[in-house]
Amino acid sequence: MADEPLVLGIETSCDETGVGVVRGRTLLADAVASSVDEHARYGGVVPEVASRAHLEAMVPTIQRALRQAGVSARDLDAVAVTAGPGLAGALLVGVSAAKAYAYALGKPLYGVNHLASHICVDQLEHGPLPEPTMALLVSGGHSSLLLAPDITSDVRPLGATIDDAAGEAFDKVARVLGLGFPGGPVIDRYAREGDPAAIAFPRGLTGGRDPLYDFSFSGLKTAVARWVEARRRDGQEVPVADVAASFQEAVVDVLTRKALRACKDNGVDHLMIGGGVAANSRLRALALERCEGAGIRLRVPRPGLCTDNGAMVASLGSEMVARGRAASTLDLPADSSLPVTEVSVPGHSHPDPHEDGHPQGHGHGHDHAHDHAHETGKDNLYG
Ligand code: KG4
Ligand code: ZN
Repeated sequence: MADEPLVLGIETSCDETGVGVVRGRTLLADAVASSVDEHARYGGVVPEVASRAHLEAMVPTIQRALRQAGVSARDLDAVAVTAGPGLAGALLVGVSAAKAYAYALGKPLYGVNHLASHICVDQLEHGPLPEPTMALLVSGGHSSLLLAPDITSDVRPLGATIDDAAGEAFDKVARVLGLGFPGGPVIDRYAREGDPAAIAFPRGLTGGRDPLYDFSFSGLKTAVARWVEARRRDGQEVPVADVAASFQEAVVDVLTRKALRACKDNGVDHLMIGGGVAANSRLRALALERCEGAGIRLRVPRPGLCTDNGAMVASLGSEMVARGRAASTLDLPADSSLPVTEVSVPGHSHPDPHEDGHPQGHGHGHDHAHDHAHETGKDNLYG
């Protein structure tokens, strides 16, 4: 192996077939094939359709990524894959492909957590993650505040949504407004023309006695639906841009408020935001404004690396290799409900699950994160 590992990452947890190639913390290729158009008419991702699309896209997308990176499969040092959480059938396609490549090439396989990958991807843009990292993870299936002393082995949830995920709320509100699927990008677009103060939608779990770091978006979604229905009942036109902007403001206000609070309470001077909703332009702007006001450094990957992709999986795989974490065995299962605390999945026949490489393990590999030489001098690492 050269001094920096060349790692292929495969992501198939939802409707994106993502394949990335990284060398160390350098992104070489990021190929994504999406089946989103096939799901649009159903108003949500249809698992069987997604699995079939992954199957068809897998080999061409891997070939495209290798071509883009200018490497051949034989050059790879490791293959990383999303082992969960996500849609069971969809995950299985990626895990099977990763096993096939790892076995055929005789290279180690790393089954990793999708959520930790959403955080680790930022290393490709902004250098090593600080330790601990405070992360706001907001996607279609998850909304959590996470404190990660070590992104390859130790991720601790401080709070999470008690009902809908932030992305789910965007998707459901878009449906109410008749804007199609997925809702996030289209609400983001409409909101630019609207007034965020037009309608005072509720901010969930922000009362004095509410849990500090948990989220709730289900009440907000219902409030938007009721407001829109009342308008329609009265025969009035629905001001789509104002509703979108006011709804979006309610979501990002709560997300950023709680994330900053978590930073302050835990003495962490930076904030990482990851997951599909981190592509939201208003979330990025408000987080930047509030972080600057509080002396907190913001790290958000560019939008293309916030939504699902293979580069994020390659990034976490590469970090696992660099830290000497144990690889997964070839009987690695796909785990649709993999908890956020389990950064990697050892596989059924792993010799000693309590050794290095286990989610709770502590590796003795060279600790790259203490070498901050690559870090940029920018104050806020954004986009
Ligand atoms: O991380 P991701 O690509 O897939 C999951 O792991 O879930 O996140 C997808 C979610 C969807 O709910 C989508 O509506 C939302 O991210 N999303 C956005 C934006 N782009 C994608 N939400 C708000 N604003 C955006 N610009
Ligand atoms: Zn995701």
